Amino acid sequence: MSDNPIAATAREALKSVNVPGGGNLADYPGLSDIIVTPSALALAISVEAGMEGAFGPVRAAATEAVEKVAEGRKVLVSLTADSAPAGAGQPGAAPQQPAPNTPQPVKGIRHIIAVASGKGGVGKSTCSVNLALALKNKGLKVGILDADLYGPSIPKLLGIEGKPAFRDEKLFLPFEAFGLKAMSIGPMVEADQAVVWRGPMASSALRQLLRETEWGELDVLIIDLPPGTGDIQISLGQSVAATGAVIVSTPQDLALIDARRAVNMFKRMKVPVLGLIENMSYFVAPDTGERYDIFGHGGAQDEAGKQDIPFLGEVPLHMAIREQSDRGKPVTQADPEGAEAQAFAKVASALIEAVPDLKV
Ligand SMILES: Nc1ncnc2c1ncn2[C@@H]1O[C@H](COP(=O)(O)OP(=O)(O)OP(=O)(O)O)[C@@H](O)[C@H]1O
Ligand SMILES: [Mg+2]
Repeated sequence: MSDNPIAATAREALKSVNVPGGGNLADYPGLSDIIVTPSALALAISVEAGMEGAFGPVRAAATEAVEKVAEGRKVLVSLTADSAPAGAGQPGAAPQQPAPNTPQPVKGIRHIIAVASGKGGVGKSTCSVNLALALKNKGLKVGILDADLYGPSIPKLLGIEGKPAFRDEKLFLPFEAFGLKAMSIGPMVEADQAVVWRGPMASSALRQLLRETEWGELDVLIIDLPPGTGDIQISLGQSVAATGAVIVSTPQDLALIDARRAVNMFKRMKVPVLGLIENMSYFVAPDTGERYDIFGHGGAQDEAGKQDIPFLGEVPLHMAIREQSDRGKPVTQADPEGAEAQAFAKVASALIEAVPDLKV
């Protein structure tokens, strides 16, 4: 990537930034590759645990130096500490130290709700988008953030094209789609660059995306998480004051085991679990309208009962849900009165019940 002329100029500019302990940032071993895309320039500075504070001014100086040569691109400078937070990913580990950051709210956003799952492909993104639209249909101001840096799907689901705009080269202006404010790193990252958004750098880029977007006033921001219980989930849980998390699962036993893991992760992080959604709950034959419980419907509801968390509702497996997603016009928007959209509307109502002051 250093063969990119702007990356090379940016690296040159970083020679003017001094680092604690002597030397300059361009020569500092913790400096990442410099990634240049048509609309963004990103780099990460990885420091030893505990050195984040000392490197704060370095980050500011690096941002300033690089902005001068970024030719209008949005500059993302991430500061990441090397070591994993206490207890991360180890179910049995007792938390020995306080989390490195206190969770902070995001200005203008009343409620941040993460949509998560233990297992991939269970329909988080589909549920995120339709839930966001269903909440909007109930009169709420809603935004959606795509936190899946490795496989962003919100742009496709909402038919978003093009690059995001900026205000004063500092703040992203979110996309607008069907009355939602939407932000994703997808439009800024070329497919072959996804691999560079690893571990702490990805978490840090995401935090910036969340905080440096001009969301305006929102009643709720839905965050569509990547699958699993990895760095992004942990870092978000520790740095963002979320109202809670919604877990999506299919009714099969195996998916439920993973859902349990996700529930436990959020409980450990003291992020309230607002409830469980059973997706692909039953199959409705498109020709006859007959219902088939092909996956042993009801597993997620039972699991919610066992875990003592609310059950938010069930969403059928239906071709219309997939087809409308593929067309970039989710079923809740395309046919709000239809049975599939109504399933999401019920989930939205249950969520509003689970978060009392979410009501308008
Ligand atoms: N209720 C449903 N009925 C029919 N198809 C569905 C339903 N829910 C999701 N799908 C389809 O299943 C596939 C996976 O869904 P989606 O991308 O929402 O899952 P995900 O959990 O976000 O996946 P990942 O873990 O990769 O982020 C998509 O093709 C989507 O259209
Ligand atoms: Mg997804």
